[in-house]
Amino acid sequence: MKYIVAIIQPDRVEEVLNTLTEKEIHLVTVSNVLGRGRQKGIAEVYRSHKEAGSLLHKVKLEIAVNDAFLQPTIDAITKGARTGQVGDGKIFVLDLADCIRIRTGETGGTAIG
Ligand SMILES: Nc1ncnc2c1ncn2[C@@H]1O[C@H](COP(=O)(O)OP(=O)(O)OP(=O)(O)O)[C@@H](O)[C@H]1O
Ligand SMILES: [Mg+2]
Repeated sequence: MKYIVAIIQPDRVEEVLNTLTEKEIHLVTVSNVLGRGRQKGIAEVYRSHKEAGSLLHKVKLEIAVNDAFLQPTIDAITKGARTGQVGDGKIFVLDLADCIRIRTGETGGTAIG
């Protein structure tokens, strides 16, 4: 199991949700966050709403998947978020130890989706 964390541009969220849905990936957590990348919020300011100092408004997606869905999820996020400009975002892949569906007590891969 993997836990995928993606930081993307706010104006790409709807498209990424569409490309995820195309791959049957529906379960996702979405947060508004602040961040900065290599340009330290400077060269990219025309793309993102600037917050305090060098921080820009970004959106964080978090998706827990079984291993078979790892590459489709990465492909979908990349397809939906990429414009080729700086600040398109980044995807982090973490090993996931477990997942528990609180209602039923199911665990592991059964509980993920
Ligand atoms: N190494 C990192 N650790 C934590 N967060 C990061 C890291 N790299 C990027 N981020 C987050 O992702 C957001 C988008 O990063 P961004 O796409 O600008 O990456 P980049 O490395 O600067 O690449 P690019 O040159 O394409 O802009 C950042 O604003 C920050 O929130
Ligand atoms: Mg950048």
